Order: sequence, then structure tokens, then C-alpha cells
Amino acid sequence: MNQEVIIVRGNNTLAGDVAVSGAKNSALKLMAAAILGQGTTVLHNVPLISDIEIMSEVLERLGATVVREGHTLRIDTANVSSFETPYELVSKMRASISVLGPLIGRFGQAHVAMPGGCQIGARKIDMHLVGLEALGVEFEVDHGVLQATTPHGMHGTHVYLEFPSVGATENMLMAAVTAEGHTAIENAACEPEIEDLANMLNAMGAKVSGAGTSLIEIEGVPLSSLHPCEHTTVGDRIEAGTFLVGGALTGGPLTVRGIDPAFLRMAIMKLRAMGCDVETGDDWVRVSRTEPLSSVDIQTLPHPGFPTDLQAQFMLLAALADDVSVITENVFENRFMFAAELMRMGADVTLDDHHAIVRGVDQLEGAPVSSTDLRAGAALVLAGIVADGETQVHHLEHIDRGYEDYVGKLASLGADIRRVPAADAAR
Ligand code: EPZ
Repeated sequence: MNQEVIIVRGNNTLAGDVAVSGAKNSALKLMAAAILGQGTTVLHNVPLISDIEIMSEVLERLGATVVREGHTLRIDTANVSSFETPYELVSKMRASISVLGPLIGRFGQAHVAMPGGCQIGARKIDMHLVGLEALGVEFEVDHGVLQATTPHGMHGTHVYLEFPSVGATENMLMAAVTAEGHTAIENAACEPEIEDLANMLNAMGAKVSGAGTSLIEIEGVPLSSLHPCEHTTVGDRIEAGTFLVGGALTGGPLTVRGIDPAFLRMAIMKLRAMGCDVETGDDWVRVSRTEPLSSVDIQTLPHPGFPTDLQAQFMLLAALADDVSVITENVFENRFMFAAELMRMGADVTLDDHHAIVRGVDQLEGAPVSSTDLRAGAALVLAGIVADGETQVHHLEHIDRGYEDYVGKLASLGADIRRVPAADAAR
């Protein structure tokens, strides 16, 4: 792929209105759930990002057809006959593991390559397997491929997840909808994307209750009673939070539209604690700031705790706040790589295991920097907007995974930003 870089000029501000796209971390699973519909499911508000393209490839490899019409996907899974998801696709995007649950729910078996880790952590799937085994699934690993079978069918169960894993909750949910009997998932993940998935499964004929809370209950139904549906993806709370941080950095006012403010309660609470004014409406959030940024302590936790996917963005805010902020990353074991890049721009961050001690500085300096994961990449671009001078952000493939038209949206908010081939940037 020809390398490109983002060049952004600093000492700038962000203000105005921006519409967020549909949630990446919901749409990917909604696409997987379409496997259970055995016909044409229509998904609206699907973001135009590379992860969605890869999930489309995964579904097509299984025998589905995926037609994109703008932000709408028409996914026909009537002819899905394979239950094999090869390493070449899973290695491109570990979220492909989300087809495991629906493949088992539809075929009672699945062969899915084990996902690797990534920059932010090992990303194990042990809890996925424990939960699915409780439903009667048996697993073998053959040369890196997870082979799932249900020799005695699937039966309802009562599972207590040792950690509210988003992926484990989703895979269990998508398998349990056709397991015979009642299933309870205790200590389930509560993220809004889980509720979005459950709403779609119910629209397909499933019987799920309690999604969005830590106790989800499912009454199994026959596969034949599940049918396709039409569903609109919820707004992306992490994209929204990223733009709100951009408004908080430079004072705004900046309004994000197409998002339920209830998805961002903790982030809004922290923005207010840092001295921002935040107003909310049915489907919008506005941030502005006239006071200097105040330091704040943050603990990332499963929802409704502070989202780990906004940790890098808030570290940037803390880097320009008065006094000292302590940021503790409790969800992933290695999600502070952003700090090293931010320090190259003049931030003062001390890392101590899961804690980042951030001492505010008056000004950051533009510099060439590299994205390490999609949230860090997005935050580095925001850093370039407020830093002194020019910043070049490399490895845009990370940003393209999860942010639709990030450069265009930032430019519409006043950023002096462009995306050029790396060769041009070197001149
Ligand atoms: C989802 O990842 C999101 N990805 C992540 O967003 C998000 O950070 C994460 O949830 C937490 O909110 C998608 O939805 C595609 P987990 P997931 O299972 O499902 C450990 C982004 O930036 N764990 O809740 O993988 C795991 O290693 C991405 O959009 C096990 O040990 O998250 C991690 O440390 C990054 N065993 C922690 O739990 C398991 O079986 C949270 O993982 C499962 C998870």
C-alpha cells in the first residue's frame, strides 16, 4: 500500500459541528450476527472504514454476498455454506473472531484461526472458549485453527465471566440464541454496543433480555425461527469522544451529532472535571472551555467505567493541563505507547507499570510521529493541531481502521490538515 502521512499545522483551534459515523465496535458484530439471519439483512449507518471491508471479506469467504450502498450494507447470508475463517483474514483483523459465535449458532461448528495479539496486548480469547464450552461447544486447536464442534448440540447454561469481556460476551450471546433452553451470562460486558447487538438479534427473532447490564438472559429459539432484519448501527461513542477532546483542547465550541450522550457519561464527567462546559441534547454533545485545563485522575475500566479507547485522547488533554494527572490503564496490558510519541512532542509523562504520571506543560512542539494503534493515531493528529509548528503523523493504516474521513472531518472543524504521499512529505 503506498504510504501516506498526515501533515497538520499547529497553533490552531477546532470549532463547529461534526456528525459521527456508526460505531465500528458495533457494526463489525452486527455483520457477524447477519450469519444467523439466513437471508438479506440490511445494516444502516455502517462506517466507511477498512475494518468493515475486512469483515465483508470474511463474510464473502463464508459464502455471503455483501453490497455496500453508501453507509448501508446489504448482507445476504442465505448461501453461507462454509464455516471456515482462515488465518489470512483473522490476522488482518482480530475482530474476525466475532464470527465464531454466529457460525456455531447456525452450523453447530466452526473453524476459525486463532487471533494473534496486537500492539496493545495479548488479546487472549480464553473467556470466549470457557463461555462457549459451558453451552456444550467442544474445541480443539489444529495448527493455529480453532475447531469448534457441538457433538451433543448446545444447551442453555449459567456462566459467570471472570472479566466482563466485550468479545466473550458477544460470542456467547450469538451462539446462545439457538442453544436449547435458558442461558444467563453474569458479569457480562455492559458496553452500549452489546445492547445494539442484542436489539438486532431480537429483531431477528431471538429472545435476549438484560443487554447493557451485567446480567444477560437468553431463551434459545430454533435456528429456523431466526430471520433477516433491517437495523441501524448506533453512533460511535469513541469517535465522538475523540472529537470532544479536540474541542476541549482548543476551547471549541465543538458539537458532535449522531451520538447518545448517555454513552459518554464518564468522559463527559471527566471533561467537566478538567474545566470544560458540556451541554447535551437527544443526539448531540457540545463542549467548550474558557478556563485553563485542570489536571484529573483517570482509571480505565469496563463500561460504565472510563473507556480505555479514550485513554490516549485524555492523556493529551492532561499533558496540557495544570499540575499532575495520574492515568491508570486497567483493561490492556500495554496501552501506553502513545505516551512515548507524545513525549517526542514535549509532553512530560512518567510511566510506572499501569500508571502514567502526566505533568502538564504549556505547549507541545510539532514533530514527526507514528501511530501505534488507532486511538493513539487519532490523538497524535489532535496533538498536532494544538502543537507549535508542523506535525507529520505516519502509519495511517491504524487510523483508517476506525475513523471515517478523519482528515475531512477535522478540516471541516477548522484544522489546517492534509494527507499526502510520504515521498511528498519528505521534500
Ligand atoms: C473490544 O475489544 C473493542 N474492540 C476494543 O476496541 C475495546 O478496547 C475493548 O472491547 C474494551 O472495551 C472491538 O469491539 C472490535 P475485551 P475486545 O474482550 O472484545 C482480556 C478499539 O480501539 N481478555 O473486553 O477484545 C483482553 O486481553 C479497540 O476500537 C482476556 O484475557 O475486548 C483485554 O486485556 C481496541 N481473555 C481485556 O480482557 C478473553 O477471553 C478486555 O478485552 C477476552 C479478553
